[in-house]
Amino acid sequence: MNSNLPIQIKVVILGDSGVGKSSIILRFVYDDFKGETDSTIGAAYKGKVYQHNNCNIQFNIWDTAGQEKFKSLAKMYYRDATAAILVYDITNSQTYDGLKEWYRELKEFGPEDIILCIAGNKEDLVDSESVQLDTVEEFAESIGAYYKRTSAKTNYGIDMIFKEIANKVC
Ligand code: GTP
Ligand code: MG
Repeated sequence: MNSNLPIQIKVVILGDSGVGKSSIILRFVYDDFKGETDSTIGAAYKGKVYQHNNCNIQFNIWDTAGQEKFKSLAKMYYRDATAAILVYDITNSQTYDGLKEWYRELKEFGPEDIILCIAGNKEDLVDSESVQLDTVEEFAESIGAYYKRTSAKTNYGIDMIFKEIANKVC
């Protein structure tokens, strides 16, 4: 077997509209950030080769649309995913409620052994944080998810999320 062949990992990113899913992917894949973005229509694919320990990983990332009208499409992307990143905006508690709903759906229709990560995005706006950190940490622990605050704007925490997924796989 050729050990240079990358291990394929399918990652789906879920969360309400505007929490910064596309921005997290833009930062991770292109190390870029845009203050103004277009809301995702349907879903978008991005790939990234990633070195972890001695493993060559190919992240196949599906960036889903958070808008309500696209919600039923997400299933197609998480159905056979290795990992899911559930995102909320730390300054908007409604998006945390939304995250819990995404989790319930994933639990019901997603793969049983899916790797779960929660990203509390917009960490650069931590002064306006409106979801208690303890609450999220407790929830994350209860569902066996890795939790990290992230900022697509400053690049805080983003690599940690993908590193965690890589860790679980190799
Ligand atoms: P949908 O595609 O509609 O589901 O939204 P999304 O979750 O992909 O959000 P998107 O990445 O388009 O970001 C929405 C807005 O939040 C944009 O104006 C981004 O610039 C902004 N944003 C994203 N991440 C951050 C962050 O870490 N900090 C700050 N301050 N703004 C962010
Ligand atoms: Mg988007």
